[in-house]
Amino acid sequence: MKLIFAPMATLSHAGMRQIIDKFGGCDEYYTEMIHATSFIHGSKFEPYYSMSCPAPQKLVWQLTDCNADKLSECAAILMEEQKPRWRVPENMQSGDKRAIGIDINMGCSAPDIFKFGSGIAWMSKPLNEVYDMLHKVRGSFKGRLSCKIRLGEDTHDKVGFSETHFYEYLDMLIESGVTQIVLHPRTRREKTSRPPRYKYIEDAALYVHKKALEKNTNISFIGNGNVASKDDYNKYCKICPDADGLMIARAAVQKPWIFSQIANTRNCELKSPLEIDLYDLAVSFIDNLRKYQPEEFYKTRAQRFFTYFCDNFSFATHIKNQILNAKTLDKTLFFLEEYFTKMPNERFV
Ligand SMILES: Cc1cc2nc3c(=O)[nH]c(=O)nc-3n(C[C@H](O)[C@H](O)[C@H](O)COP(=O)(O)O)c2cc1C
Repeated sequence: MKLIFAPMATLSHAGMRQIIDKFGGCDEYYTEMIHATSFIHGSKFEPYYSMSCPAPQKLVWQLTDCNADKLSECAAILMEEQKPRWRVPENMQSGDKRAIGIDINMGCSAPDIFKFGSGIAWMSKPLNEVYDMLHKVRGSFKGRLSCKIRLGEDTHDKVGFSETHFYEYLDMLIESGVTQIVLHPRTRREKTSRPPRYKYIEDAALYVHKKALEKNTNISFIGNGNVASKDDYNKYCKICPDADGLMIARAAVQKPWIFSQIANTRNCELKSPLEIDLYDLAVSFIDNLRKYQPEEFYKTRAQRFFTYFCDNFSFATHIKNQILNAKTLDKTLFFLEEYFTKMPNERFV
């Protein structure tokens, strides 16, 4: 079972990947979404989203856009090293490109993404339009093409979405040359508080594998949603034995060692849970922000990370509030140091 770090805007960046890698890593890392049009036109921040360290051989660049030409042009620049029109930022390491593939974001339900025809809006477009976009992207680079999807748009009947449309959509993905499909089994409007419907991961994995076999090809089917511990993972494996992998998002930010904890046997630096020093981890994260992010992002990215990470502490709300109000990264570290001075037992997991 392949273990994958999920794409998360503001969280799945090079600095976060470094932290996960230090604990033994995972099998694949998806980047946060890269807006294809902005990337092509040299937006100041897009190059940071597309950094490929620390493990380009495990990296998948996730793209978002409503425009097929822009998606395929961006995929070609990234994967085929076509010359970008922008200047590479100084803290982007030289040779810091190349990855194993491209993912098209067809699952993001954030209103700003959906209303402009990107993310999950792709799941409501005519199938031939989506096919044409994927065909174009597929033709623009060598390497793996994947799609991250949800169950689809909500309907007003009891099921919540159209199963018929969902399977037609899978057929279209299979025909278009996609070789990895990730399913976050919720509809567009379903919030993460509603349990993900694992049944559809298993059913769709079986369906996709059968269809791929008929076509004499190979397609990996990956599930995602609400796995935050080894027990959750075992439950997932029991319900979805035919899935080829599991993608983890929020829990990997809170516990960057979760992949190693699940894999257990990995050749990693993590010897026992007693070795996890949460203060050291926070310091490394902040160092990585300074190393891999533009200064404009320091505050928001620290706030987003600590929103999840502080759930490791008993007084999570208190420390989260302090960090939300911290004006600098040094002040954030000061609050954490103060917290561990008062609560020394919480420093080590
Ligand atoms: C803060 C945040 C940002 C996200 N950004 C993206 C994104 O850019 N692209 C995407 O496909 N999914 C995105 N997601 C969805 C996650 O990849 C994942 O599907 C979802 O959180 C469920 O997985 P989990 O239960 O392991 O967190 C985001 C989720 C969160 C919480």
